[in-house]
Amino acid sequence: MEPTTSSDYPDIVTGLLQTPATIAPKYFYDARGSALFEDITRLPEYYPTRTEQAIMAAHAPAMAQALGPGRTVIELGAGNCHKARALCTLIQARHYVAVDISEAFMQAAVAGMRQAFAHLPIDAVVADITGDWALPAQVPTARRLVFYPGSSIGNFDPPQAQALLARMRAVLGPDGALLVGVDLVKDAAVLNAAYDDAAGVTAAFNRNLLDHVNRLIGADFDPHQWHHRAFFNAAQSRIEMHLEAAQALEVCWRSGKRCFAQGERIHTENSYKYRVQDFVMLLRDAGFTQAQAWTDPRQWFAVVLAKP
Ligand code: AVJ
Repeated sequence: MEPTTSSDYPDIVTGLLQTPATIAPKYFYDARGSALFEDITRLPEYYPTRTEQAIMAAHAPAMAQALGPGRTVIELGAGNCHKARALCTLIQARHYVAVDISEAFMQAAVAGMRQAFAHLPIDAVVADITGDWALPAQVPTARRLVFYPGSSIGNFDPPQAQALLARMRAVLGPDGALLVGVDLVKDAAVLNAAYDDAAGVTAAFNRNLLDHVNRLIGADFDPHQWHHRAFFNAAQSRIEMHLEAAQALEVCWRSGKRCFAQGERIHTENSYKYRVQDFVMLLRDAGFTQAQAWTDPRQWFAVVLAKP
């Protein structure tokens, strides 16, 4: 068993006993899952990461101008910290705080960041931002910038996303800002390919969740018995990922078990896609009065700057 927070066990078991069964996407990110996600970001079909990077590069001067120097950058879901490197240089950050749920992966990334930015104060915070997260006392309160790139906000349904944005708003003073990456609605074929790539990396990422859950709750999932399913649900404006039982099977964990019929699914992820104007309305409802969006020429992705 690996270290778990006290809520992991009941959280996962509750999801497994629902119909349909669910496992929250935060459980994708054990060490192997974080590495597989890195591989996903380099896939030809997975456009979000490189499109966001291209937007940030193309509009760097305007972003630097709008943000100004001397900010404390608080990156949520920091992962490999690559995006923060470019941003901290661009806006001459005075403090960097990486917040991520995967401790081992983040510590290595932060060590690299400390080498590259010898004079920048850097903190690493292990936290689940969907829970009750707080920043350590040494993080300056003035001129904070919450940086939430990669369209991770898409993992939450709009009411949850609004609550999370409101929580971000709450850690910002009146001089604070939020820079958030948002994936936009587009042709379903482009979306479907991005979440069901030809090389099968996303399928491996999805199945790896079962290995992680096996360790977290002492379950006996056999990942080979589960098919990767990913498709755009236009009515809900979201990509859905599921794991589908290839045959009738039974899964046991420390305190219980569940039978799955052939074809029965576990819902593992939603990735909501927005129209820019709808996302700006969500920001407004979360307490941000100013918003400015930059997009790519195909309008596939947006980087939005919001201020209280
Ligand atoms: C990290 C949530 C932004 O939704 O695109 C990638 C996760 N899942 N491929 C996304 C993911 C499958 C990713 N986010």
